[in-house]
Amino acid sequence: MKSEFGIIKLFTILFLLSVAVHAQKGRKEFTPGKEWLDTEGQVINAHGAGFLFENGTYYWFGESRAERSSLGVAVYSSKDLYNWKNEGLALNPVDGDDEHDIARGCVMERPKVIFNEKTGKYVMWFHLEMKGQGYNAARVAVAVADQVVGPYNFVTSYRPNGNMSRDMTVFVDDDGSAYHIYSSRDNYDLRIAKLSDDYLHHTAQDSLMFGEHREAPAIIKHEGLYYLITSGCTGWKPNDASIHVSESLFGNWKRKPSPLRGPHANITFDGQSTYILPVLGKKDAYIFIADRWKPQDLRNSPYIWLPLEFDSGEPIVQWRDSWDLSMFD
Ligand code: DGJ
Repeated sequence: MKSEFGIIKLFTILFLLSVAVHAQKGRKEFTPGKEWLDTEGQVINAHGAGFLFENGTYYWFGESRAERSSLGVAVYSSKDLYNWKNEGLALNPVDGDDEHDIARGCVMERPKVIFNEKTGKYVMWFHLEMKGQGYNAARVAVAVADQVVGPYNFVTSYRPNGNMSRDMTVFVDDDGSAYHIYSSRDNYDLRIAKLSDDYLHHTAQDSLMFGEHREAPAIIKHEGLYYLITSGCTGWKPNDASIHVSESLFGNWKRKPSPLRGPHANITFDGQSTYILPVLGKKDAYIFIADRWKPQDLRNSPYIWLPLEFDSGEPIVQWRDSWDLSMFD
């Protein structure tokens, strides 16, 4: 009798689990700030995200985290942006060599992957803090792969043109030139540097964008203008986002009021920017992506995905409890 009960219990649990997994597979909306499971029913663990689109598939790269420590760079894939399959770790820390730049115990943050048309290589840039050095190394690092999901091979890490480099993004312009945008001088400056043609190192074209103590850069180009959303610098705590606009990447960046609207917009909806994702095949469709950091449990920090719309030429990110891509139709 007792064992019969056990079997019924087990089947009930298995049934509920399969319902949960099935429900996730059939996801058709975004629920900002809520738990987001992958196609296997596990919490998506890919923070400080960056994205690449290729052959009808989106790839989501992000920090894989334990409660606090860095486990490497995770990659997920999706055809519809709602349902994500875990493709494993694209880049692993190195075990058994504590002197290695990416020795296990290092911190890998805000990974961004771009594809180089000339070399046919996938190039990953990320913010690297070295094992046992807190946030003092302030380096950028690069890894390369032949396949989008990796494995990525570490190439090198350094301070670009001698400058400290923490929060960052990379951006490929219409002509194929790539740029690294990074917080420097203890985060007081935001700088931009052009990458080499193979995207594997920095050129000397490296200049100050503005010195307003900003980090968490996320950029798009829309109708010939560059829009750059950033956060203030308050560690893991949320703060007010800002947007800067310029006609040129090296140009005159003008600060505009925050584009965020709705409850807690003044603290970025309790989050911090990481990326603005253009939705392929839809005109003027962008998704503003942020992390809602849980510093004691980074693995489970939720994601905030919200539509970024242009209203009379001005970018607006309005809070929504849930939404789907049909709003771009
Ligand atoms: C804020 C940054 O934006 C995050 O990526 C991370 O580096 C934290 N600071 C660490 O305190």
